[in-house]
Amino acid sequence: MRLLILGGTTEATALARAVAGDEGFAVTLSLAGRTRDPAASPVPVRVGGFGGADGLARTLAAERIDRLIDATHPFAARISANAAEAARRVGVPLLAIRRPAWTPGEGDRWIEVADMAAAAGALGERPRTVFLTIGRQEVAAFAAAPQHTYVVRSIEPIGDTLPVPNLRTIEARGPFDAAAEAALMREAGIEVVVSKNAGGAATFGKILAARHLGLPVIMVRRPAKPDGPSVPDAEGALAWLRAEV
Ligand SMILES: NC(=O)c1ccc[n+]([C@@H]2O[C@H](COP(=O)([O-])OP(=O)(O)OC[C@H]3O[C@@H](n4cnc5c(N)ncnc54)[C@H](OP(=O)(O)O)[C@@H]3O)[C@@H](O)[C@H]2O)c1
Repeated sequence: MRLLILGGTTEATALARAVAGDEGFAVTLSLAGRTRDPAASPVPVRVGGFGGADGLARTLAAERIDRLIDATHPFAARISANAAEAARRVGVPLLAIRRPAWTPGEGDRWIEVADMAAAAGALGERPRTVFLTIGRQEVAAFAAAPQHTYVVRSIEPIGDTLPVPNLRTIEARGPFDAAAEAALMREAGIEVVVSKNAGGAATFGKILAARHLGLPVIMVRRPAKPDGPSVPDAEGALAWLRAEV
C-alpha cells in the first residue's frame, strides 16, 4: 500500500514510526518545510508545498498513492481543505487524524476567541505581561497591541515580525511539563497566556500551569476543517490502514 502522510505533527511521526519497516506499506511523510531542523523521521520525507489542491492531486496520481492520511495540525486549515479536494478528485481514500480539542476544567479561566486579531484585542488597554505560545506564524497580529510586554516562545526565531518595545523571545521545542511552565511563568511575571486550542499532551503543561497559578488564558478556537472519515490518534489511523490492507 502506497501511503502519503501529511505531517508536521507528533501524530504523523507516530504513525510513520508504526508503519516503518512493515513490508505491506511504502510510506512517504510530507512536511511543509516550516522548521529548519524537523524531528527525525523513520520514513522517507518530502518537503515543501504541492501547489494547492491541483498540485496535490497531480502528486497523488503520479506517485500512485493508495491512501492519504491528513495528520496536519488542527490550525493548518488550508492543507486539509486541499487534501479533501485532491483526494475526492483522484478517488484516493482519505483519513484525517483529528486530535481532540482541549476543554476547560475546574479552575480554568479561559477567554475563548475566534482568531489572533481577537486575541490581541482581548488583552485589553491596560499594559500586561503576556505569554504568547502560538507559534511563529501569527505573532504579527499582536503588533496592534504594543502597550503589552510579550514573552514569545516558538521553535523557530520570530525575526522582526513583532515590532513592540517590550519583547522577550524564547526558542524551544516541546514537550513542556506543567512544573517547568509554571516556573517560567512566575520568573517572567506572566499575567495572561495566549494559546491556540491545539489539543494533545505535548503543550498542555502551559494550560495546567495557568490553572495552577490562577492566570487567565486567551484560547483561540480552531478553524473549520473539512468533514470526512477521521480518527483521534495514530493508533486509530493504523487500525484503519490495517483493515484496508
Ligand atoms: N498552524 C499551526 O499552528 C501549526 C502548528 C504545528 C505544526 N504545524 C504544521 O506546519 C505545517 C504548515 O502549517 P500551516 O498552518 O502553515 O498550514 P496551512 O496554512 O494549512 O497550509 C499552507 C500551505 O502550506 C503547504 N503545506 C502545509 N502542510 C503541508 C504538508 N504537510 N506537506 C506539504 N505542504 C504542506 C501547502 O502548500 P501548497 O498549497 O503549495 O501545497 C499549504 O497550502 C503543517 O504541516 C502543519 O501540520 C502547523
